[in-house]
Amino acid sequence: MKQRLLFLGPPGAGKGTQAQLLAESQGLLHLSTGDLLRAEVQVGSELGRQAEAVMARGELVSDELVLAIVRSRLQQCSGGWLLDGFPRNLSQAEALDALLLELGQPIELVVLMELDDALLIQRLLSRGRSDDNEGVIRHRLTVYREQTTPLISHYRDLGLLQAVEAAGTVEEIAARITTLTKA
Ligand code: AP5
Ligand code: MG
Repeated sequence: MKQRLLFLGPPGAGKGTQAQLLAESQGLLHLSTGDLLRAEVQVGSELGRQAEAVMARGELVSDELVLAIVRSRLQQCSGGWLLDGFPRNLSQAEALDALLLELGQPIELVVLMELDDALLIQRLLSRGRSDDNEGVIRHRLTVYREQTTPLISHYRDLGLLQAVEAAGTVEEIAARITTLTKA
């Protein structure tokens, strides 16, 4: 079973849902930068104040803020982990590669969750998080296409990428992902 994983995919693909399930069943640390940022907003920290408006617009929070969060968590983690929603652009991916080299903990698998825009939008509109309104969802999808999709070839070139069809029930998709983690 792979111990160091990364979940990649557009907003609404189910990264958080599947990451939480797998992390629980395998005892991995689930590190979602979106969840960590929302927690900072909730407690009203300086970091949260800087991130709040950016998140509400559906743009990316600065690499510096996000990297600081991830670095401290990974440095304290002695077991396996699952990164969800990070990295989000090539500069974050390169910073992560350098950090993991320093820690001697290479990524073992990148799971790319693929789903049609119509289904993504439908899932997010029915969830209704504060950044789940149609205009912001469309902007998050544009940001994903422009800034995050270059990571697909980055990880494919490293031989780490496996794509998963993210349509179906939560259980069906979990089974597809579990198969990949055991390969
Ligand atoms: P983030 O929290 O990462 O949000 P996102 O990428 O927009 O993705 P979501 O969390 O909305 O979708 P998901 O793929 O996790 O799907 P989920 O499982 O929730 O980021 C939010 C913001 O934070 C960004 O816009 C940015 O501002 C900032 N940020 C975060 N990370 C950053 C970074 N690294 N750098 C810079 N900025 C960063 O599922 C969605 C819905 O569908 C749920 O309601 C779920 O119950 C439902 N669902 C899941 N699976 C299924 C299924 N199989 N069938 C039916 N419904 C399903
Ligand atoms: Mg999520």
